[in-house]
Amino acid sequence: MREPIIRKGDGNKEAEPASDAEGARDESLQERLRPRRLAEVIGQGAVARRLAVSLEAARKRGEPLPHILFDGPPGLGKTTFAMVLHNELGVELSITSGAALDKKMDVMPFLTNATERSILFIDEIHRLPRAVEEFIYPVMEDFRVDVVLGEGMAARTLNLPLKKFTIIGATTRSGMLSSPLRERFGLHEHLEFYGPEDLVRIITINAGKLRATIDQDAAWELATRSRGTPRIANARLRWVRDFSLARADGAITQAVARDALDMQEIDDQGLDKQDRRYLETLIRVFSGGPTGVEALAATMNLAVDTLKDEVEPYLLRREYVVRSPRGRLATRAAYQHLRLPEPPPVPEAEARDPQGRLFD
Ligand SMILES: Nc1ncnc2c1ncn2[C@@H]1O[C@H](COP(=O)(O)OP(=O)(O)OP(=O)(O)O)[C@@H](O)[C@H]1O
Ligand SMILES: [Mg+2]
Repeated sequence: MREPIIRKGDGNKEAEPASDAEGARDESLQERLRPRRLAEVIGQGAVARRLAVSLEAARKRGEPLPHILFDGPPGLGKTTFAMVLHNELGVELSITSGAALDKKMDVMPFLTNATERSILFIDEIHRLPRAVEEFIYPVMEDFRVDVVLGEGMAARTLNLPLKKFTIIGATTRSGMLSSPLRERFGLHEHLEFYGPEDLVRIITINAGKLRATIDQDAAWELATRSRGTPRIANARLRWVRDFSLARADGAITQAVARDALDMQEIDDQGLDKQDRRYLETLIRVFSGGPTGVEALAATMNLAVDTLKDEVEPYLLRREYVVRSPRGRLATRAAYQHLRLPEPPPVPEAEARDPQGRLFD
């Protein structure tokens, strides 16, 4: 198979040089640890099986893959899956981001340069402006672009045929995509948080790649304290490895892993300082809610997007927080985790919202 070609477009966050040495180190670490073939991907079994079917069909028919949308919280493997598909097919890949495609003309070169069966990866696709979105509808459906030439009475539309290629979109906010765009993807794959067994496998394999020795208890300790997220597991693994070299004999044991993670103020459930601050703010400042995410973000002095994309998904998944029509509510588990006295139970009538749904 010929070596796949990667072209990276403007504004692509994966292609941008990291601004500081730490960032650069982290970037290259993630690249080194990223699985390259479908067989190397751990977990997400149902997604991987469906992709294997699409790959086999595309190969047999000599056609491009269907357009694929990956959605899910950061660090769960959206970019990884896109790169794996590109490696598996050995086709050309162009990478860009919704944020970089401001105008129709920004997207044009990606479309006209696309070769037969190649892949165009659009990260953060929810940031595409509506006009650009509409411009790519006919691309996704019929592999053509409609360009309007001239103005007023003299205006005419030119239909430009394109090569048959695949658009792979990634988003942390599939809810922000318009339904016409969402419906034009042949496959829509939602990535879920990983269970500890899958993270143990990822950590063990990656420790090998980092030439670190880790025992199974230590791998389990790390796995249960990585917020169900491979990217976080990788970053914590590197920290634990560094800690084991600096403060122990280089072997990562459970005791070493515990000390290293405690030093970073990661608690026994894997929550970090920011997660606990979120829960503390919700409970102490807003009496456990319900409160709007905007108010929480303002009090914490953080961007709403950071809370929505990075902090809340895992807390919601673990049921420390619930989302009600009136806002965020801390659950009993959150009080217990922070060892705070639980509030008296709310009478059922008060706990109902106007539509009659129970909050907790
Ligand atoms: N299924 C997997 N098996 C093994 N490692 C994985 C898997 N998924 C992700 N990883 C690891 O986690 C890292 C982060 O994954 P990736 O960059 O694909 O996340 P993402 O979903 O694109 O996140 P973002 O929304 O921030 O772009 C990868 O570099 C890779 O090392
Ligand atoms: Mg990504």
